Amino acid sequence: MTPSGDNVFVGAIDQGTTSTRFLIFNTNGEVVALHQIEFKQIYPQPGWHEHDPEELVSSVEQCIDGAVAAFEEQGHSRSQIAAVGITNQRETTIVWDKNTGKALHNGIVWTDTRSQELVRRLKNRLGSGELTRRCGLPLSTYSSVGKLLWLLENVPDVKKAYDSGDLAFGTVDAWLAYKLNGGPKKNVHVSDPSNASRTMFMNLEKLEYDDELLDWFRIDRNKIQLPKIVRSSDPEAFGTLANTALKGIKITGCLGDQSAALVGQKGITPGLAKNTYGTGCFLLYNVGPKPIFSTHGLLSTVAFDFGPGKTMYALEGSIAVAGSSIKFLVDNLGFIESSSKLSALAETVEDNGGCTFVTAFSGLFAPYWIDDARGTIFGITAYTKRGHIARATLEATCFQTKAILDSMEKDSGQALTELAVDGGMCNSDLIMQTQSDFIGMPVIRPAMRETTALGAAIAAGLAVGVWNSLDDLKNVNTEGRTTFSPQITTEDASKRFARWEKAVEMSKGWANY
Ligand code: G3P
Repeated sequence: MTPSGDNVFVGAIDQGTTSTRFLIFNTNGEVVALHQIEFKQIYPQPGWHEHDPEELVSSVEQCIDGAVAAFEEQGHSRSQIAAVGITNQRETTIVWDKNTGKALHNGIVWTDTRSQELVRRLKNRLGSGELTRRCGLPLSTYSSVGKLLWLLENVPDVKKAYDSGDLAFGTVDAWLAYKLNGGPKKNVHVSDPSNASRTMFMNLEKLEYDDELLDWFRIDRNKIQLPKIVRSSDPEAFGTLANTALKGIKITGCLGDQSAALVGQKGITPGLAKNTYGTGCFLLYNVGPKPIFSTHGLLSTVAFDFGPGKTMYALEGSIAVAGSSIKFLVDNLGFIESSSKLSALAETVEDNGGCTFVTAFSGLFAPYWIDDARGTIFGITAYTKRGHIARATLEATCFQTKAILDSMEKDSGQALTELAVDGGMCNSDLIMQTQSDFIGMPVIRPAMRETTALGAAIAAGLAVGVWNSLDDLKNVNTEGRTTFSPQITTEDASKRFARWEKAVEMSKGWANY
């Protein structure tokens, strides 16, 4: 029986690109307990980025146990947790043997550009121009399909399992649900449309795998087990936790992390948008029950599928490098000892001192889609100090957000009037002020910024009646917003943006030299 009343809580697994977390929320959407673990980032070659699939699972299990222990220390009992939701880094591709449940390779992370040459070949194949109209995504190294095809071409064990019909594929949500249910014993192999829409072989309007897309990519459905696409909120489809302190509790919600943040910001009605500054930065704009196909470099994606009449689509602007550019200053260049010190370093100078940093570590995503761009700093002189580079680094994400908003306005015919924000970088007042200056509109930051996990908790809670409808969420996460308003003139903002666009132009093609 589902616990009810004030004493009911919902858990959320938040499996992101650089860390895993488990959070426990009350029905007002407040965090009651949290446990977080960072896991290994594997970079075998320039442009390659992998995760150990087993480590992802064990990090989730440890986080559940850690958060439940903290929850119980407060006098609560685990039986008060009604359900658990999953939210996850999207596109990251994991393949395993469906009989043994053993991963056949490290997960290839969404940022990984090893499929660049393969993608170039695909772009030359007849019909490549029509793919986006079916699946919402442009051909690039970003989506799962290029990673899967690379594995089939380059890893003999993966090809062997495919040829014998033993190969299973999944994005991180599907892998976690499969493993957390106990693997091949239960064989719960499912994904929700917000995740499946990132593979490039789901039909965006039908929310089903598209045989013509699979044929075009030369993927034989009979040789590979794909996760069954189920709703984002479902009392049965995602199964039950087989281990951990929450053994026996059902998983009842699942959303890709950017969709989850949109839900957590309560962008559940058309016209609302949010920008999440995580490892990357992702702006999602709820366009309603029908997809809008972008003609200006944006993605069309599923925002969430909460059942009949409650499926919403989004236009998305994806930026590959955001928080990871700050991590780069910390880990690779030793500029500062932790990401939280970036604003202080940037504040040691007045401005960027003439520097522009195109942080194209994984090529450039929306709205440019330049796979072969690479990170480039323009304008360095003998005057340049670390503070200037710090400013240019944070400005890169803010400029790309501006470019995305311009595209969104062209695609939707409507200009946003304010931007809701969340994610690690939004803790910096300097970054949020810079963002507001560059886009010329108010930036609104909530007090409770665990919006991604909250979105997953909402999806899970809706399935089991913790909240009965989206209307029940009216009072969830509304308190204590901070607004940043533009402080520079439109002319000044346009001048700075023109310099950025010039720098983007000049960073093209570097990967080929
Ligand atoms: O599409 C990739 C995205 O889901 C990763 O999000 O929060 O790890 O930057 P994040």
